Amino acid sequence: MDKDISVTLKVWRQRSPKEKGQFETYKIEKINQSVSFLEMLDILNEQLVNEGKEPIVFDHDCREGICGMCSLYVNGHPHGPATGATTCQLYMRRFNDGETITIEPWRSAGFPVIRDLMVDRYAYDKIIQAGGFTSVNTGGVPDANAIPIPKEDADLAMDAAACIGCGACAAACKNGSAMLFVSAKVSQLALLPQGKVEAARRAKAMVAKMDELGFGNCTNTRACEMECPKNISVSNIARLNREFICAKLQD
Ligand code: SF4
Ligand code: FES
Repeated sequence: MDKDISVTLKVWRQRSPKEKGQFETYKIEKINQSVSFLEMLDILNEQLVNEGKEPIVFDHDCREGICGMCSLYVNGHPHGPATGATTCQLYMRRFNDGETITIEPWRSAGFPVIRDLMVDRYAYDKIIQAGGFTSVNTGGVPDANAIPIPKEDADLAMDAAACIGCGACAAACKNGSAMLFVSAKVSQLALLPQGKVEAARRAKAMVAKMDELGFGNCTNTRACEMECPKNISVSNIARLNREFICAKLQD
C-alpha cells in the first residue's frame, strides 16, 4: 500500500551553459508514493512558481519510456535506482520517508548543460545522421518471405533497435564513451540483409562522427550496460568492432 512520504531534494541549478551551477535544496512534504518521479518534479515546480521562484528546467516528452528525453541522474545513477527503466518510469515508492534525493543532469563532455537539468543531446542525433540511409528498391510489392532472416538475427536486431538514444550509456561511462549507443544503431541494421548494403560505410561514418564529437574510448567497464534503461547488451560493442575492422580492411 503506497503511503505519503516527505523527502529532501538536492537539485542542480545552472542558469546557462556558461554560468557556474550549484545544488539547491528543496523539501517535498507528504507526497504519495504512487506519484511518478517527474510528477513529483512538476509538483515541486508548482510550489516554486507559487513562491515566485524560477521553476526547475528538466527534459521529458513521452513519459512512457519511449523517447529517451528524461535524462536525469538520480542518486548517482542515470535514470535513477530502477533497472531497465527510464526516469519517467520511476515512482516515489522507490524512496523512503525522510530520504535525501540528489538530482543532476547528465555529466558528460558530449552533453553540455543547457539549463538546470536539461542537457544538449544533439550529438547523438549527429551520429545518427552520419549513419545515413539504407537502400530500398522501389517497385512492386515484394513477397513477404523473399528475404529469409534467421529468427536469432531478427531477435538480436530488434533487441538493438530498442535503444532510445537517451544518452545514459555515455553519462554512466567514466570515459564518456558513446560506444553502446553507436553499437546498437550499427547492429540493428548490420544484422539484417537490408542493412548490409551500406554497412561498411555506416560503421566507419558513425565511429568517425563519435570520435569527432569528443566521446571517449570504451575500456570495457560495462557501466553503460548496467545503467541502460533498455538493457542493450555490450555484445553489440563487439559486433561494432567487427563491423568497423572489416570495413577498414575493405578500404
Ligand atoms: S544504449 Fe541504452 S543507455 Fe545508451 S542511448 Fe541507447 S537506450 Fe540509452
Ligand atoms: S520522457 Fe520519454 S523516455 Fe522518459
